Amino acid sequence: MKKNIIVANWKLNGDIKTISCYLTYLKLRSSSFSKKNIIVIAPPTVFLERVYKDINNTNICLGAQNVDVNLTGAFTGENSALMMKDVGVKYIILGHSERRLFHNENNEIIAKKFSLVKKLNLIPILCIGETEIEKKSNKTEKSLKIQLKSILNVCGEKAFRNTVIAYEPVWSIGTGISADPKNVQLIHQFIKNYIKKYDSVSAENLIVQYGGSVNSLNTENFLKQPDVNGLLIGSASLKHEEFLKIIKISDNIL
Ligand code: PGA
Repeated sequence: MKKNIIVANWKLNGDIKTISCYLTYLKLRSSSFSKKNIIVIAPPTVFLERVYKDINNTNICLGAQNVDVNLTGAFTGENSALMMKDVGVKYIILGHSERRLFHNENNEIIAKKFSLVKKLNLIPILCIGETEIEKKSNKTEKSLKIQLKSILNVCGEKAFRNTVIAYEPVWSIGTGISADPKNVQLIHQFIKNYIKKYDSVSAENLIVQYGGSVNSLNTENFLKQPDVNGLLIGSASLKHEEFLKIIKISDNIL
């Protein structure tokens, strides 16, 4: 059965007033969301608990945008997966290209975080994608393989059981230029086939979502692809009207 996971990545946006207004609208409509969709809100860390209080007892899940590589200790300014779990987080976005670029996260650090998140029975949303240079030099598959292999090396062949992969071409994030849905379908197939070589169970149940300049106008074209199992949405998730439109389109497709 096809299931879509629709994730709102609010990044470094929002304040108490706009968040509570947004959630009021979302909650009003949430009982009519298809059970086949999983809806996740990933607010900035400081608002996690507040958002959880609002969405608890609805069918909306809580996501975090990042987590530290340590669980506890003298690491000023960080937040751990244990703490995330404590405040109701279920999904954790890892390896987002903005973390790789602005916070120097490499595949090794991301794999360590992935391993911690899994140990705590939280669900990682692993972001992978090629840069513009890699795309232009036909190195997309090579780049994706390296990012996936680094997880397999640290976490073993069954690493991708009960996980989400977000295919996010770096050149598309926040640019208004989305990837061609047919190409995305081919890349998602490639990702699933690659993982299948290591563990067929992981591949069979794997959710691969697309992210990169998604909006209500291109949602349908992505979700119609058989191996696109959801969307990771940045700027279009910041307005509740637009996010609700995207959820409705997903509901109608399933
Ligand atoms: P965007 O961001 O939808 O604004 O392109 C997507 C993402 O960063 O996950």
